Amino acid sequence: MKNLEWYLHKVYGDYKRKLFNKAGKDVLEIGVGTGTNLPYYKAGTNLTAIEPSKDMLKFFLKKAQDFPLNIHVKEGVAEALPFEDNSFDTVVSTLVLCSVYSPQKVLSEIKRVLRPGGTFIFIEHVKAPEKTLTSKFQDVFHKSWKWLFEGCDIKRNTGKLIQDFFKTVEIKTVKFNSPFIPVNYHIIGFATKET
Ligand SMILES: C[S@@+](CC[C@H](N)C(=O)[O-])C[C@H]1O[C@@H](n2cnc3c(N)ncnc32)[C@H](O)[C@@H]1O
Repeated sequence: MKNLEWYLHKVYGDYKRKLFNKAGKDVLEIGVGTGTNLPYYKAGTNLTAIEPSKDMLKFFLKKAQDFPLNIHVKEGVAEALPFEDNSFDTVVSTLVLCSVYSPQKVLSEIKRVLRPGGTFIFIEHVKAPEKTLTSKFQDVFHKSWKWLFEGCDIKRNTGKLIQDFFKTVEIKTVKFNSPFIPVNYHIIGFATKET
């Protein structure tokens, strides 16, 4: 991810700038990786980061020093968030729900730790519509992709899962013209926890 950061900013930057504007003061980001999203948070944000990889957290903490944010980190997985109910105004997930062991558990945890009226912001690559070129690529590369990229599942219908957990969801499907064809369909949007 570290070497790909310039590319991630190029592809997702405009979407992130708009979406992260909706973030509140107390934010939880799951699967922060090396901190690609750090430039998009408002100054003064209380950002709690959870990430299973010690190495990624090391990079993240080093990079975070350059941003005017109050950072707290936890090593762990999003299936079992070590936080009280209703703790955050916003939860962020970018390119994470494809790799978690159980997206259902993660979504249930996200909803639990969000305050009523809080916002879940997401950008995720997803299963392509049937009969598209991408869908054919996904059928062919599904297994090898998972093996090569640490469990990344290119055929997850994550948009449907989010809609199963949240009543209010604004979601957009975007197809990028990227060379990474198996992951060029994305969902971008936010969901609100009911009050
Ligand atoms: C493709 S990277 C995305 C990193 C970052 N969110 C970004 O947009 O650049 C996926 C991240 O999810 C993390 N991850 C994998 N399984 C996870 C889980 N169960 N809970 C939380 N994070 C997880 C990985 O360690 C990795 O940092």
